[in-house]
Amino acid sequence: MAQISSDIDGAAKFLTQGELVGIPTETVYGLAANALNGAAVAQIFEVKNRPSFDPLIVHISGIEEVEKYASHFPEKLKNLARAFWPGPLTLLLPKKEIVPDLVTSGLARVALRVPSHPLTRSLLDVLDFPLAAPSANPFGYISPTQAGHVDAQLGDQIPFILDGGPCEVGLESTIVGMEEDEVIVYRMGGLAVDAIETVVGQVQVRDQSSSKPDAPGLLTSHYAPRVPFLVGDLDELISQAKRAQKDFAVLSLSRRIDELDSSRSLVLSREGSLSEAAQNLFAGMRQLDASGAEVILAEYMPETGLGRAMNDRLRRAAAKG
Ligand code: TXA
Ligand code: MG
Repeated sequence: MAQISSDIDGAAKFLTQGELVGIPTETVYGLAANALNGAAVAQIFEVKNRPSFDPLIVHISGIEEVEKYASHFPEKLKNLARAFWPGPLTLLLPKKEIVPDLVTSGLARVALRVPSHPLTRSLLDVLDFPLAAPSANPFGYISPTQAGHVDAQLGDQIPFILDGGPCEVGLESTIVGMEEDEVIVYRMGGLAVDAIETVVGQVQVRDQSSSKPDAPGLLTSHYAPRVPFLVGDLDELISQAKRAQKDFAVLSLSRRIDELDSSRSLVLSREGSLSEAAQNLFAGMRQLDASGAEVILAEYMPETGLGRAMNDRLRRAAAKG
């Protein structure tokens, strides 16, 4: 079983030895390894049961580290980094030789991010290498937003989880890169597209539902609970579930379903705050997945701000076939 603690030196010791450590970030928990150690990185793929064509994000301690790993830093992306790092923004930049091909799955770009969680920032400060870290969940399942989520699924395979409490943002980082002169959002996430547009003007959001996505982790079925998950109009979904005599649970933004026991009606934010809802989304999906219900019914969020990224995750959770 993994040791769960907020001791940075303990985490650093295992990482320096080439072992894997669960780390808190403001978005979701990561499964971290020394990004420059190919053998350590290989273990990430094994433990997560992740296909090797799905590349990893490299976490660095500050913007000044970019030049070590990227051969070019376009002005527009630099402006985004200045505005939003540390924070839930990942930039795709042309990689330097020093980054192992396993990290980028052989792609020409490396994904770089400066996370803002204070424990992980301190950890990166004491280490003399960057951390490759995907979300710390088995491939295809919901991302973890608490140390206990990591422990429940990967705890018997890793020695240490750095406990930084529940994640503040709750959605994975927004992934951004450039093609020619255009800024492209490859994955919507914890940094809203509108916020990005205030810095670089209009951006293109890639349709991520293709079967051959630019970021391979964007396979349509992803972030999925085990129990069937349906998204749409709640009243309709509830009547259908009743007609089919299904034992159902409901995930909603602010509406409480009175006929259900409180463990079966999960409200993401009583006030309807999208940032609070994002914080609670993955933990809520996990809770309902474990509730014993036969089906989870969810509603779409308003399509603004973080609501867009949340809707993307809800669609993916529902896409499991
Ligand atoms: O918030 C986050 O981004 C979290 C925390 C731990 O930092 N990490 C995370 O990692 O969500 P992961 O591996 O679950 O998702 C990373 C996504 C994948 O979809 C992957 O395909 C994409 O980033 N990605 C990574 N490197 C890439 C590259 N070189 N080119 C294109 N896509 C890349
Ligand atoms: Mg992931």
